[in-house]
Amino acid sequence: MKLSEPVLTKRIPGGLFGDAKQRRTIGFEEYVKTGGYKALEKALSMEPSAVVSMVKDAVVRGRGGAGFPAGLKWSFLAPIDGGRRYLAINCDEAEPGTFKDRLLVDFDPHQVLEGIAIACWACQLDTAYFFIRGEYHHQAKVFQKAIEEAYAGGIFGKQGLLKGKSKFAVECILHRGAGAYICGEETGLLEAIEGKRGWPRIKPPFPAVKGLFGRPTIVNNVETLAAAMHVVDRGVEWWKGIGVQSRFPGGMPSFGPKLMGVSGHVNRPGVYEAPLGVKLSTLVNDYCGGMRNGKKFKGAIAGGVSMGVLGADQFDAPMDFDIGRDHQVLGLGTACPTVFDEDTDMVAVARNIARFFKNESCGQCTPCREGSGWMLKTLMRIERGDGTSADLDLLLEVAGSMGLTPGTTICGLADGNNWAVRTIVNKYRSEFEARVKPKFVPVYVTAGR
Ligand SMILES: Cc1cc2nc3c(=O)[nH]c(=O)nc-3n(C[C@H](O)[C@H](O)[C@H](O)COP(=O)(O)O)c2cc1C
Ligand code: SF4
Repeated sequence: MKLSEPVLTKRIPGGLFGDAKQRRTIGFEEYVKTGGYKALEKALSMEPSAVVSMVKDAVVRGRGGAGFPAGLKWSFLAPIDGGRRYLAINCDEAEPGTFKDRLLVDFDPHQVLEGIAIACWACQLDTAYFFIRGEYHHQAKVFQKAIEEAYAGGIFGKQGLLKGKSKFAVECILHRGAGAYICGEETGLLEAIEGKRGWPRIKPPFPAVKGLFGRPTIVNNVETLAAAMHVVDRGVEWWKGIGVQSRFPGGMPSFGPKLMGVSGHVNRPGVYEAPLGVKLSTLVNDYCGGMRNGKKFKGAIAGGVSMGVLGADQFDAPMDFDIGRDHQVLGLGTACPTVFDEDTDMVAVARNIARFFKNESCGQCTPCREGSGWMLKTLMRIERGDGTSADLDLLLEVAGSMGLTPGTTICGLADGNNWAVRTIVNKYRSEFEARVKPKFVPVYVTAGR
C-alpha cells in the first residue's frame, strides 16, 4: 500500500519509519526557514471570522476524543465584551495507549504554537494556557523553550501577533498538570488551570460561554490546533481531499490526516500519520510491520480504552469517526489502538482497565465512584476463578448504570468505563464463562409426609 504523504509529521527528522535516534526538536529558526509561521501571516491577512469559516468549512473534527468540529465550537463563543477570552490547549494525554500529541510537542512544537496563534486570532482570544500532563517532564521543558523562542521571534507578546503585524496581542503560558487523568476532561482541565482540584463541572454552561475564570474559553486538543493551521496554510479543498465522507446518509465526514499511535502486539509500535478511514488491518500490516511473531489478531482497543474494544472479526474496521456506529464501540476516540494477539487474556485486560478507571474516578458522582469499584472487585473475583456466572450479569448491570443513561454522571469517564468493560465482556464472553463457576441454583428436597 502507498503510504500517504506526511503533513503533521513532515518536518520530523528521520520520518516516522526512520531511525528514532535521528529525531530532534525543530527550533524556531529552522521552522521559519522551512515555511513556518506563513499560515499565521495568511490568517492575519484575513478577517478573524473568515478564518473560523475556513476551519468550519473544512470540518476539522476534534482530535482529542469526541470528534466535535473545531470551527463549529469556535463559532459558539460568547460575543466580545472587552473582557478576557481564553484558549485552553489540552495536552493532558493521559488516555492509556495514547501518545500522539507528545510526538508533536517533542519534535515540532512550533507547528502547535502556530496553530495556537491562529486559533487566538480567529476567535479573538488574548490568553492561551497550554496544559501539559505532569508526567511529560521533558516535553514541558521542550515546549517552554519553544514558547520562549516564539516570544523572542515576535509571535506572542505585547507588540501584537507576528512582530506587530496585527495589533492583537496574545500571551501564551505553559501550565503543568500533576498526574490525574481527569484533568484531561475539558472542565476538569479548566479547574486545574485555575489551581483547584480537577473536578469536572456540570454543563451547561459550556466553556465557550463560561470557562476559565468565568470567561469565554475554547478548549482544543494539541493535534486539532496543528490540523487547523494546515487548513489555513493549504486550503479547505486540499484538506477535504484526504480522508473519507461519512458511511451513513447525512453523517459528518472524517477528513484530513490523523496521527495514530499504535501499541501492543505489533512489530513496529509507534505514531503513524494516516488518512482517516484507513483500515485497522492496513495500519497494523502496512505501517506497523504486521502482528508480532506472526501471531493472529485477537482484538484492539479502538482509540483509547474509553472507546471499548474491536473484536477478532473487526480487524478491517475503518479508522474514521463513524466507527462507533457499526462496530459496537463508543467511537474513534484518539485513534490510538492497542493491539492484542491471540495469546492475550481478555479477562486480565478488562481487570486492568477497570483498575485504571477506579483509580482515576474523581468521586463526585455516585454511579462512577461506586460502580468503578464494584466492577474492579467483580473482575478480580472472576480472574481468580472465584466468580460465578451471575457475576457476568452483575458486571453488565453495573456498567449499564454508569453509562447507558445520559446525565447520570457529570463527565464521560464513567461512560468510558462502561464501554471498555461492556465491549470486552460481550465480545469475549466465552473467555469469561470459562473462568466462572456455574451459578449456584439451590435445590430444595421436600421430605415426604
Ligand atoms: C475522562 C476524560 C479524559 C479526557 N482526556 C483528554 C486528553 O487527555 N486530551 C484531550 O485532548 N482531550 C481529552 N478529553 C476530551 C476533552 O474533554 C475535550 O473534548 C477535548 O479536549 C476537546 O478538544 P478537541 O475538540 O480539539 O478534540 C477527555 C475527556 C474525558 C471525558
Ligand atoms: S463521572 Fe466519574 S470522573 Fe466524571 S465527574 Fe463523575 S465521578 Fe468524576
